[in-house]
Amino acid sequence: MNILKDNFGRRFPYIRLSISDVCNFKCGYCLPDGYKINKADNRTFINTQEIGRLAKALSELGVSKIRLTGGEPTIRKDYLEIIKIIKKNSGIKKTVITTNGYKLNKIAKNLKDSGLDGINISIDSLNSKTFKQVTGHDRLHEILEGIQELQKLNFKNIKINAVLMKGINDSEKDFKEWSNFIKNNEIDFRYIELMQTGDNLDYFQKYHISANKFVDFLNNDKWIIQTFGKDAGPSKNFIKAEYKGKFGVIAPYSKDFCKSCNRLRITAKGDLRLCLFGDTGINIRHLMQKDDQIEELKDLILNQLNYKKESHYLEIGETGLNKNLSTIGG
Ligand code: 5AD
Ligand code: SF4
Repeated sequence: MNILKDNFGRRFPYIRLSISDVCNFKCGYCLPDGYKINKADNRTFINTQEIGRLAKALSELGVSKIRLTGGEPTIRKDYLEIIKIIKKNSGIKKTVITTNGYKLNKIAKNLKDSGLDGINISIDSLNSKTFKQVTGHDRLHEILEGIQELQKLNFKNIKINAVLMKGINDSEKDFKEWSNFIKNNEIDFRYIELMQTGDNLDYFQKYHISANKFVDFLNNDKWIIQTFGKDAGPSKNFIKAEYKGKFGVIAPYSKDFCKSCNRLRITAKGDLRLCLFGDTGINIRHLMQKDDQIEELKDLILNQLNYKKESHYLEIGETGLNKNLSTIGG
């Protein structure tokens, strides 16, 4: 039973847990100058034991899914151990990961063997030049190879996310390339509308474009919107006969976007974040230190939900605590 409920009737079966702020990519909208250590905050990242206790507490609160994010989560040496600890001891039903895929061709087998239940890979373009231009890395080939590797191993639940950017990956040609890709691959592809953060105002103003451009393409191209149940989350999905994968759109600026919010976030240093763009974020790590603190940890999380606001205030340019999304994993 999920008992995590806020004052607006929303439930939270889903947690996004960042396990590292560090990222090796330099995506223009996130870390254009690369990752830099925050000297003002010398706390270490939460360790495997702490994560094990946290996962147990969350599962007892009715959380069924944990997504590991970063920065880039696979940069951490013990990322496989973390997956295994959550899978083994906590009662969490689904453990999934979001990655930039930079070494996916090398780690596909390990990921499969860890028991991981799903993977989201960020690929902003299928054109390797554009990919390099956005991320600063010429790694598209290895990532696509990694995906093939996963498919060979019969790994299910592969998704690809791209941030939609004006003049970079928003042409009909781009949309067609992805549609060819999901025609033959059982992989869901989603565009995320570019979000403004504390750091990226210039980039945002230059490249932001409404996700409606993609939705219009989908409508013209006869994709059918899927209606879904209550816990489906913020992605609107589209299907078409004879296509193995689905298309999806995440449009955080759209009306009522926050009504379907079903997730909470925890940073790599153990701060609970009630909203990607909220300015509330208390530390809950002190209650991850001993096994007998689990009840207290559960109470603290439950209590914090009272402070979750109805909506973000992105449309008026309020971006909250996050200077970029690398501390909190999007
Ligand atoms: N707007 C939209 N998506 C973003 N991501 C990172 N920063 C932003 C932003 N400002 C995305 C990444 C990845 C996911 C974890 O978050 O591209 O797909
Ligand atoms: Fe790294 Fe993801 Fe930020 Fe790109 S968006 S720099 S891959 S954390």
